[in-house]
Amino acid sequence: MVAQDSTSIPPPVSLLAEITHRCPLQCPYCSNPLELERAAGELDTATWQRVLDEATALGVLQTHFSGGEPTARRDLVDLVRHAAGLGQYSNLITSGVLLDQAKLEALVEAGLDHLQLSIQDSRAGSADRIAGYKNGHARKMNLAGMVRAAGLPLTINAVVHRQNLDHLAEIIDLAVESGAQRLEVAHVQYYGWALVNRAALMPSRAQSERAIELVRAARERLKGVLAIDYVVPDYYARYPKPCMGGWGRQNLNITPSGKVLPCHAAETITSLSFESVTERPLAEIWYRSAAFNAFRGTAWMPEPCRSCDRRTIDFGGCRCQAFAIAGRAEATDPACSLSPLHDALVATANEAARSEPPPFVYRRFGNARPSAVTQSAPVREAEPATDNRASSAQP
Ligand code: SF4
Ligand code: FES
Repeated sequence: MVAQDSTSIPPPVSLLAEITHRCPLQCPYCSNPLELERAAGELDTATWQRVLDEATALGVLQTHFSGGEPTARRDLVDLVRHAAGLGQYSNLITSGVLLDQAKLEALVEAGLDHLQLSIQDSRAGSADRIAGYKNGHARKMNLAGMVRAAGLPLTINAVVHRQNLDHLAEIIDLAVESGAQRLEVAHVQYYGWALVNRAALMPSRAQSERAIELVRAARERLKGVLAIDYVVPDYYARYPKPCMGGWGRQNLNITPSGKVLPCHAAETITSLSFESVTERPLAEIWYRSAAFNAFRGTAWMPEPCRSCDRRTIDFGGCRCQAFAIAGRAEATDPACSLSPLHDALVATANEAARSEPPPFVYRRFGNARPSAVTQSAPVREAEPATDNRASSAQP
């Protein structure tokens, strides 16, 4: 690991506050760790407020409240109000199924600046099956109308994969109809739950190429109406994306129990250990912790990254993907065409995309081991609240 001089490290710009892992949805590509944090292990309100104070002092300008499903916490309004009082730009990343008019109004009154609503598909039946949640899609569309009526800026997030990518044109139409200013189309990233479900989720190259063309045309057609963020799926790209804008360069993520991570999936890298806001000030963790300094700069890079012209553009790709595929977080991201593992990775992807999709392994507490749940398994209404801080989990 490379020690860094803190004067050469810029402060973080944004904080992803994962205030809970509880969530009524069960998406098979969830970016939360396989071992989900229980409600009893979550930071309390006062600690989150102290963390927001420390983040602001450190230089953070935006706080994204996320989860799990952040609206499962009763104190979300208090946390949003606290962030607003600190001058933070606050964004709520939500599945939307637990929000009603009164809760939305309370969040707006507390100073919420923006809402990102995740959808699973354009078609209700498919969306509810992917999320493992009955009538979830209808609730989301209802919420989109309420957000628009409240005058709150709205982004629609759509995670795409082989089972919904052919509906992308409809997803774009849905975003326009729901009054969103922005649509984020994100291909599944294959670590954690998504790696368990890779064969069920991996699109074919032909599917991906059709999607790229479709987005290109839609961007042109919808200029001034809808901004579309779209990143080419890793496995079929020539070079990887600069994941998180580089490890420990711009963003930090805090888990429900207070662990501070450089990205939401960092705990999948079992060779690193991460410090907690309950043990050390946030600024010290950002500037001095071994985990944050492990992949800063370029000195840690092996070949071919070390002598590659793109090393300060993509920073060697994604550390979590490198660990998941290569077994070493410092390896060149196998999504890169220059990685010695790239061809094998693409062959695996092609093979997965050719075969019949296996049943999803849904994200559930205690379902960390791949015991498949059939795709026709009954979808559930809600995750029962497991502590007295949880809001009514009945949407
Ligand atoms: Fe990026 Fe490394 Fe690939 Fe170069 S070799 S393009 S730095 S991942
Ligand atoms: Fe962790 Fe890419 S998701 S570095």
